[in-house]
Order: sequence, then structure tokens, then C-alpha cells
Amino acid sequence: MAALAKEIMGSSLLERSSFIASSNITFNQSLNHLKKNQFWVSPGLVPIEKRRVHLRKVATTPVAAVSEDLVKAVPEKAVKFKVRAVVTVRNKNKEDFKETIVKHLDAFTEKIGRNVVLELISTEIDPKTKGPKRSNEAALKDWSKKSNVKAERVNYTAEFVVNSNFGMPGAITVTNKHQKEFFIESITIEGFACGPVHFPCNSWVQSKKDHPGKRIFFCNKPYLPSETPEGLKALREKELKNLRGDGTGVRKLSDRIYDFDVYNDLGNPDKGIEFVRPKLGGEKIPYPRRCRTGRLPTDTDMHAESRVEKPEPMYVPRDEQFEESKQDTFAAGRLKAVLHNLIPSLIASISANNHDFKGFSDIDSLYDEGLLLKLGLHDELLKKLPLPKALSKFQEYSSHGLLKYDTPKILSKDKFAWLRDDEFARQAVAGINPVNIETLKAFPPVSNLDPEIYGPQESALKEEHILGSSQWHVCPTGNNNSQWSQAYLIFQLTNFIALDRQTSFVELFGKNFQALEENKLFMLDFHDAYLPFLDRINALDGRKAYATRTIFFLSPLGTLKPIAIELSLPPAGPSSRSKRVVTPPIDATTNWIWQLAKAHVCSNDAGVHQLVNHWLRTHACMEPFILAAHRQLSAMHPIFKLLDPHMRYTLEINALARQALLNGEGVIESCFTPGRYCMEISAAAYKNWRFDLEGLPADLIRRGIAVPDATQPHGLKLLIEDYPYATDGLLIWSAIENWVRTYVNRYYPNSGVVCNDRELQAWYSESINVGHADVSNASWWPTLVSPDDLVSILTTIIWLASAQHAALNFGQYPYGGYVPNRPPLMRRLIPEENDPEYTNFVADPQRYFLSALPSLLQATKFMAVVDTLSTHSPDEEYLGERQQPSIWSGDAEIIEAFYGFSAEIGRIEKEIEKRNNDPSLRNRCGAGVLPYELLAPSSEPGVTCRGVPNSVSI
Ligand SMILES: [Fe+2]
Repeated sequence: MAALAKEIMGSSLLERSSFIASSNITFNQSLNHLKKNQFWVSPGLVPIEKRRVHLRKVATTPVAAVSEDLVKAVPEKAVKFKVRAVVTVRNKNKEDFKETIVKHLDAFTEKIGRNVVLELISTEIDPKTKGPKRSNEAALKDWSKKSNVKAERVNYTAEFVVNSNFGMPGAITVTNKHQKEFFIESITIEGFACGPVHFPCNSWVQSKKDHPGKRIFFCNKPYLPSETPEGLKALREKELKNLRGDGTGVRKLSDRIYDFDVYNDLGNPDKGIEFVRPKLGGEKIPYPRRCRTGRLPTDTDMHAESRVEKPEPMYVPRDEQFEESKQDTFAAGRLKAVLHNLIPSLIASISANNHDFKGFSDIDSLYDEGLLLKLGLHDELLKKLPLPKALSKFQEYSSHGLLKYDTPKILSKDKFAWLRDDEFARQAVAGINPVNIETLKAFPPVSNLDPEIYGPQESALKEEHILGSSQWHVCPTGNNNSQWSQAYLIFQLTNFIALDRQTSFVELFGKNFQALEENKLFMLDFHDAYLPFLDRINALDGRKAYATRTIFFLSPLGTLKPIAIELSLPPAGPSSRSKRVVTPPIDATTNWIWQLAKAHVCSNDAGVHQLVNHWLRTHACMEPFILAAHRQLSAMHPIFKLLDPHMRYTLEINALARQALLNGEGVIESCFTPGRYCMEISAAAYKNWRFDLEGLPADLIRRGIAVPDATQPHGLKLLIEDYPYATDGLLIWSAIENWVRTYVNRYYPNSGVVCNDRELQAWYSESINVGHADVSNASWWPTLVSPDDLVSILTTIIWLASAQHAALNFGQYPYGGYVPNRPPLMRRLIPEENDPEYTNFVADPQRYFLSALPSLLQATKFMAVVDTLSTHSPDEEYLGERQQPSIWSGDAEIIEAFYGFSAEIGRIEKEIEKRNNDPSLRNRCGAGVLPYELLAPSSEPGVTCRGVPNSVSI
């Protein structure tokens, strides 16, 4: 009897409670039922099961203890039985005083019925009420008793009585009659024959007094809209309506409304004309949309939203806010940033010396001894300055290393690597901006800018620059590629022939060496991104930039060598010399000129990396897809479940960026050469943004780095074979694509299902037409008609959120924390012989070089910020990981497939490790060469220069 009861009522319940004693159910009835029904499948799901029978190995859909057949047979005799909810609540580690008081108050008022009430909703309709079948309302037990439990997670229970014909529980409503919000991680219902039914929640439940109405959580079984059980249809709609809001009103921090707005909160016109910034988004300056906060307009400009300054929080929907451990990490980073910024300011204020680094040893001292000790200012500062309270624990901060910068990784293996050409070139394929290198398809390169405005489109690069530089290449010894050596010899000979006969470069290359055809020349081209802004940038105080192009030559060993740098300025007049080409050095003077030219290239690169590739193409362009997902895809939609971990924290980090990084006079403006024009450069690049080319294979083909080749792994032949970002990236891309394909095929057997999924279509349509409204008419948007379309769109989104962002983000301090390696800002142009500064340059080139780099204050501020941005928080979730891995979906086959994806990610990590130890891969292994780990999936917390989180989370 006990065994039978266990089978009927679910093992977990019987093992833990004696609920069965109060049940009126008769076991004979149930036994008969069991014999008749070999398959316990919810009637509402039968058609789907039939359709998918070829896909499924195991049917594990939870079902009610008593099937509909039995209910139909004896409806008037429906019996009652008890089930139990186990609610896992996550406590805060730290509470402020007010929170503690309110918590105690809530515990006290529990006794008078101000409690937390749950109600179970069936997937079935009650024929009498025409609404879903509902359980009784039940309160969470022992709240006051458990209110002092210090554990991170506390389980509460509630008991319900349901009829035997209740069906399957598909939703739970929660009413919080307390004063204080609380965080529900998950709810499990025990007592149904199918076993426990899981409700992953991960959400804050607000007090009823602030948010009337009941919170709705759905069980973990995914349903396409057309498959929604009758009992859940209205709730599915209602919940989405709640999340969309009505587009009006000022958002409260406790709201969970997702809506769109333009970037009209970067400036602060009320503070003065210099704080005015253009609105990004709209016809005039196209840009993606951001999360609407509904703040009131400024006093001086009705179209600009008023700002919220630190430490006041910016609105993001409540569940998007950082969790506690992430908040702590971010706050520690911010504290560091404040201290690191404040101290050099203080030093500057008490020191008569100028703010430049006086020598490279000054920069080193930031890591070795701490700035203050090095400069002998530690005690002086403590004595002389009325330090604010925040700094009263000055010594403590100092001892905790908060005043000292960690040694950036670029210095760790070879302190002088950054000076060398091979490292400069290596970083174009294995550094933090490996996505601008392209194959040189035509020589000389041509601008796409309007010649009427920006002068002649032709480059100043001439054949002799390439040929002249190339002569200095030494044919490698020990190279066993004899064919290549032969070609190289011909190349050297043809150089001389070319110089002797004044023969055309292209003609010679076309006939003999065929370098262009053989794709041995590559380019970093920042010309068109910068030139339109140079007049304005160079008019700023202490900002100087060129629009640069760098030509690289691919050596037989697979490494790149820079052979010419073109530096362009806007033409000042018909006779002005606005373009200049610098080639590798042949003496001391040209060596310093070459180093300065490389620094300007790195500065261009740092700006495009940050403003375009990192911020715009991952952070900003993801946001519309996330907003639309929450507004249009129900939490029970399979695609929402797939995307969920890839959307974590993005809205919050983007809001923080608007508040303190991208805003007028914010960190980005003060640390990057384009200053107040930074975001306009970002917006200009959005005009060329194409979602269809954002996937890795498409991007590699666009840049001419890869050509389609069915015989190669991933169907691509790379023209730079040892291109660490691309080779590691393709492994991850393929793993994501395979996982997404398995997932999509599971729910979308044909195009009809894709086209008829109204939530899916609404999501994609809103992402484009509202979220990316300014480019919505572009013809390149992929259609969403077939399962293949969906696979491609989702793979691109997951790639951008995870691997692409990681590759661009987590090396920022390891490579950029040493400013000479990648100066985010340049203050001087390169002197020419008749410039007044030329004499000073020749007299003390090191001093000139350092004076062209960011000042001490600018550099330390930048270092502090990129240190924070390169940090993994302790609660980071990496690719292949998910919260609640066994219950995030109620589809057992998908859970199994996800474990397969995780295992594949583990294998990729091992392959990356192997590659980093392969001496033939010279862009990631060699004397003092840093391994390429930015796409190695796992990481410890902190600044590790590796690790691929699921989402754009920092
Ligand atoms: Fe980022």
C-alpha cells in the first residue's frame, strides 16, 4: 500500500510529510486508473507530443495525480488532496538599518495576517468559472520564526488543497503583504504524481502596497504561444502587458517595466552650454534605443532628459539590478577609481611639477611602490590635506592595495614587448581589438568619404613605401616552406627591379610576386572613422589625433609586420600637406618618429575599440533585443528561456555607463582623444552597422580575412592562419550554433511554426522597428521565416553577448593598463623638421614622447576605470553554465542537450590551452609572448584576462 501511495502521490511528499493521511482519495480508484493509463500525459499537450514524437526520447512532462480520464468518469466524485510549495528565498548578506527595522516589522505583522500568500493555477480551465482552476490561497509558514536565519537561502513552505481533477499546476501567484520586497529564487510544488513541479523565479516580489496585484510565476515547461494551455493563456498575456507598461510615467526603482527611449540623457544643459550633448537616436543622429526611465526633461531643453548623478541609482527594471556580490565588486572598483583619480588630483594640487610622466620609471612606480610612496608624498598628503571622511582609512586602503595598481599583463612576461613592431602587429590579431584588421584588397586604399568635404579620396601611400620598407625584411632561416622562400627571393629582387625601372608596383606584384592576389598585405584602417572629426578634435585643448592607416605584411611564419603608417589630417588648403607616410626606422630619429606614429595608431585603435566595437556593437546594440525580449516573449517562451542568461546585467551596466562613462565630461570623454566628440564617432559608426554581418564568419569574410571553403573546418579558410581571435572564436561560434540549432529544431520543426509564432515575430519586429528604428528600413536585416533564420539570428545574438564582448572587454586593463602600449589619448602630433617643436623633440625625444601620451592624471583615471571594467565578479556565469542547471527548463531533452553544450565548451577550453603551448603558433606562443586566453571560457573572479561570461555584464 505504501509503495502504491508513493507512486500515486509522488515520492518526495510522502517521504517528507504525512499529508496522505488527510486525503480522501481511494487507492482502489487510483489503481484502476493506473492500469488504464499507461501514459501520463497532460491532455492539452497531446497534439504537440505527437508532432514531436520523432524528436523526443523521454516524455517527462509533469502531470496531475489523477488524469482527466478519471475525472471524466467520476467528475462528481472529485476528491481533494494536499500539495506543498517549497519557496526558496534568497536573503541579503548585508542589510542597512532601515531594512532591518522593516524586516522585524514584517515578522511581527505576520501574526496579524500581513503575510505572503500563494495560489496555484492549473493549466486547465474550470468549466464552471471559465477561468483557470485555482487552489485555495495559502500563506507561507513560519516567516517570523525564520526571519532571523542568517543563511543565504531560506526555504518556506505553504500547503494547498486541490481537487484530484486539478490538472497540472502551470502558474503560481504570489502576494506580498509585507512592507519589504523579497527575492524568490525558485518554487517547487510537491505532491503531484509526476514528481516535483519546478518554477524558476529569480525575481524580486514587491510589497502589495507599492505594487497592487499578484505576481505571476510560470512553471518551467516551455510553451510556444499557440501551445499555451487554456488555463495559462490569459495570464501569459497579462504578464507581458505588465512588463511592457504603458509608455508613460516616471519609473520607480521597484518597477519592472521594459520600454524604449533615445539617448537624450548624456548631456546636462542645465549646467551650461559646455555640457550640452546631442541627442543620439532619431533621424538626425541614428543610434540604438536604450531603456526608458521616464525622468523629467531638463529645465533648459525639453528634449533632454534630466540626469541622475552618482550615488543616486539609475532606473533599470528591478530584476536587472546587480546582485549583491556584483554590487560589492563594482563598488570596490568604483572606490578604487575614486581613490586613484582623487590622489593624483591632490598631488597635482600640491606639486608645482607639470603633470606629465617624467620618465618611464614614473609609470612603473604606479605598480611597484604605489604612487604616493614613490613620490614621497604619502605622509605629506596625510598631514597637509583635509582629507574627506572617505579617505580617513587611508592607511587601510593603502595596505589593501587599493592605492596601488596591479601590474598589467602586457608587462608581466616582457617589459619591453610593447615597443616592438612584432608585438604592435600581434595585438591586431590577438590583442583587445582584434576585429579591425582587414585584407588589403586594392592598393593604394581609397576613402569612402565625400571628396567635396574631406578632400581627395586617394591615399598618400605609394608603391615605394611598401617596396622600400619590404626590403628590410630578412628572409627567415629554417623556413621549410621552400616555395615561399623562392617567392620571397623573387619579391626582394623585384623590389630592386621596381626601383630601378620605375615599374608600377601593381604591375610588378601582379606579374611576379602577386602579393595582393596572395593576400599577404593587411591593413588597420581608421581613416574614415576619424577624419570627419579631426578639425574639431584637434581644436580641443591638449588633444591631437591623425586619421591613420597601417599596412602590414604577412611573414612566412604567420606573423604580421607593420611596413607603413599613413597619418592624415584634414586639408587646410589646396597646397597644405595633410597626409604623411611613416615607414619603419633606419636611424635614431626615425625610430622615435616611428614609435610616435605607432602610438597614434594605437590611440585611434583604442578609440574605435571602445566607442564602436566594444560599446556600440556589443553593449548598445544588444539592449534593444533584450528590451524587446522582455516585452514580447513570455517567460514560458522557449526562446526567452534560451536567451535569458545572455541578457543578464546588460541593462544595468549600460545604465551605469550612461551615468558615469559616456556622459558629457564623463570618463570616456576625459580619457579618449576625441573628447566631447566620442559619442558622435560611435554614432557615425552605427550608420555602417549591419546585424547580418555581426556573426563571426560573416565578419571575417567582410574583412577579407576569410574566404568560404567547404573543405576547411567551419567552412572558412583563414588568410592569416594563426589569428587567435578568429581560430578560437570559430570554435565557440560553432559550439553556440550547434546548441542553438538543437534548441530551435526542438520547437520549430518547420517554417510555418516560425512564421506563426506571434511572440517570436513581435520580438524580432520590435527589436528592429523600435529598438533599431533608425536603421529599420535597411535591406540587410535578415528575415525571420525559417528555423535556419532563427538559428542564425540567435547564434549572432548569443555570440555578441558572450564571446565577442569577452574578447573586447576583459583585456582592457591587462593590455591598456600600461598606457604607452595603447594610449587612449594623444596630446601632441609628430613634429616635422620645420616645426618649432622639432628641436625639443631631437634634444629629448623620450620627454617629447611622454608629453604626447596622457598626463599622469588622465592615465591613472583611465587605468582605474579599465581595471573595474576588466573585473569578473564572483557571481559571474560563464558560457556553458546556467543558474539552476537542472530545472531552468522543464524539457528533459533540452536539459541534456545543454549539458552536451557545456561539455563542448570544456573541450574548447582544453584546445585553447593546447594552442597556447604550440610554438608554431607565434602569435600566442614564444619568448615573452602572452598566450591568447580572452576566449578561454572559464575564469576566476578578478582581472584575469580570460573568461567568457554568458552576457554583456560589465
Ligand atoms: Fe563591456
